Amino acid sequence: MRLQKFLARAGVASRRGSEELISAGRVRVNGACVTELGSKVDADSDVVEVDGARVELPRESVTLMLHKPAGYVTTMSDPQGRPTVAELVPAGEGRFAGLYPVGRLDADTTGLLLFSTDGELGNALLHPRRHVTKRYVALVEGSPDARDVERLRRGVRLSDGMTLPAEVRVLEGKAAKRAAALIGEGRASSGNARRHTGRRSRAALEHAGACSYVEVGLREGRKRQVRRMLEAVGCPVVALHRATFGPLELGDLPRGQWRELAGEEVAALREAARE
Ligand code: URA
Repeated sequence: MRLQKFLARAGVASRRGSEELISAGRVRVNGACVTELGSKVDADSDVVEVDGARVELPRESVTLMLHKPAGYVTTMSDPQGRPTVAELVPAGEGRFAGLYPVGRLDADTTGLLLFSTDGELGNALLHPRRHVTKRYVALVEGSPDARDVERLRRGVRLSDGMTLPAEVRVLEGKAAKRAAALIGEGRASSGNARRHTGRRSRAALEHAGACSYVEVGLREGRKRQVRRMLEAVGCPVVALHRATFGPLELGDLPRGQWRELAGEEVAALREAARE
């Protein structure tokens, strides 16, 4: 890139002002004074100084999605030494420095977890008044009846207050099969499942037809909210998976893998956070 463009992008001065700095002999590239206006620099490897002070381009932010498996705590470091999501993403390296999770999923929850180095974007997405919709599929004990579904939709009272209106439907037929495949993908150990049901293993419940699949769309994100909502209507969660976050879907990203978001996806996220 041309030196004057580099300086302007780095915020040193306008393109015209940067040309003046170069002509005045105030700019060095790799230690050598450069006064020629057309000179090129490699933004990744050349050292550019103005009046002896190093000048760098602002770091481009990185946002990525992880298909979180069960058994990982959503934190970048855990004093108790449990496995964390930090082990699954390229945290702390080069352009990924400062990467942090946007919101959280419980250790047992699988699915779409966003990470970003852009603090402003993360805050906008989690802002209580602008929370973007996140969709979950839950395998639950029993099956919420029409009254339960209506309660969940309108709002249920939890220990920290009423929940906001939510989108809720009990999945049947093909939709239930798709949910089973999603949840099966992130299957926790049967020991885990047994701990949650308290009585019978997930496999036994599924086999006995004593469970159902429920889709829940929330615009808020309180601690263990989906689990607590479904528990409140007598249908404890056996397994939980987040399928979407605002305009983003996990798609066929394999469990435990991450991918960087494309520019349009980040733009769509910003747009969703503004709505
Ligand atoms: N709601 C929950 O109960 N758990 C999660 O991990 C996310 C939403």
